[in-house]
Amino acid sequence: MPDIPRPPVTDWSTDFDHTHPDYAARAPEIWDELREQCPVAHTDRFGGAWFPTRHEDISTIAKDTENFTSRDVVVKDVRGDVPAPMGYAPPITSDPPFHKIARGVLLEFFAPKAIAAWEGVARETCRELIAEIKERLAEDPGAVADAATEYAQHIPVRIIADMLGLPREDGDRFRVFIHRVLSEPGQNTVEFEDSLEYYLDEKIAERRQNLGDDLISYLCQADVDGMPLQDEHVRGTIALLIIAGIDTTWSGIGASLWHLAQHPEQRRRWTDDPEVRPFALEEFLRFYAPVTMARLVAKDVEIGGCPMKPEDWTLLSFPAANRDPEAFDDAGSFIIDRQRNRHTAFGLGIHRCVGSNLARLEMKVGIEEWMEAFPDFALNDPDSVTWSTGQVRGPRTLPVVFPS
Ligand code: HEM
Repeated sequence: MPDIPRPPVTDWSTDFDHTHPDYAARAPEIWDELREQCPVAHTDRFGGAWFPTRHEDISTIAKDTENFTSRDVVVKDVRGDVPAPMGYAPPITSDPPFHKIARGVLLEFFAPKAIAAWEGVARETCRELIAEIKERLAEDPGAVADAATEYAQHIPVRIIADMLGLPREDGDRFRVFIHRVLSEPGQNTVEFEDSLEYYLDEKIAERRQNLGDDLISYLCQADVDGMPLQDEHVRGTIALLIIAGIDTTWSGIGASLWHLAQHPEQRRRWTDDPEVRPFALEEFLRFYAPVTMARLVAKDVEIGGCPMKPEDWTLLSFPAANRDPEAFDDAGSFIIDRQRNRHTAFGLGIHRCVGSNLARLEMKVGIEEWMEAFPDFALNDPDSVTWSTGQVRGPRTLPVVFPS
């Protein structure tokens, strides 16, 4: 679906627009320039928004739930109107004290041991996708494969569908729902019958009639102090898992493969030295952190010398924090065996990613299976790689070739 054209940005420090295609292409350069220049950029777009670029400021905001609310976390012209403390997608849109309850409901399902049990499904999923690519290449040797659209994008969709007990074939619908929320926030109104809410209401009603051992059934039976979760809570949390769990990991796997496609020496290191792989994974997460979150200012507050007013947005660019030279040695270099790496890819403070064990598993398996099948690959044409716009950043088309 076509993206709505955005007016050009002439000065990123006073008129930034993270939904502009120019931002997608050169975001890391823009963060570095702004960090030197401001370091907190501002725009009148979206009804007023701030963009801190230093690790210290981003960390301060992420940990300050008094002056900043998570009532809405995706920047757009309108502000979300579902009031705190729950918000429309708990726990990410919840504030304390309700946040702890909404997060607590999910912890058991996403705990390390529970997630480790999904490794077999993850590997099987990756192998199926690779087999399809290989089959196509066998018929047309030398053809181009798209590591994003034929591989990375399907991995998290299929796994979260299995976890939720939803048909894998609904994956295309999930991607349409997600695109509306993350890449075109507030730009599209759709008939209720075409909305994620409608889709989920139907699935939840079906599940209540016929409970299973999937995550929707689990949420339908969860309780808080003996009271079942409200329907809006169950629906909002499932919507969050679909939105938070798919583009993010797809971006993480895609960016890692984009990097490896361009660095044959690091591909060799990765293949020859399995001990480097856990370090490489964390460095992919630091260097190509996909997720920028947002907060609404709740009370007058000053950050980095900037006076923030209630209902202003502030973006939390965890990716920019990860490239701050005050927080990381040689922050602008990808160091495959970086030892000290307290990156912020999964956020900071009470909203730190609940799905981080799953995200790491999918990235690890996604990269391992690809590298096992295709130890040698290169970008077909660097200019034909496209990147997403908005708050989740990663390659959306990634055409690669395989030297014979
Ligand atoms: C590489 C992949 C991923 C990255 C980089 C990522 C990043 C993040 C970040 C930065 C936050 C903090 C949001 C904030 O401060 O407002 C977050 C929260 C969250 N993520 Fe992830 N995420 C990823 C994958 C996943 C997956 C696979 C799931 C589950 C299916 C998931 C579920 C969540 C949930 C439920 C929250 C809200 C936690 C809370 O509010 O307490 N994420 N994620």
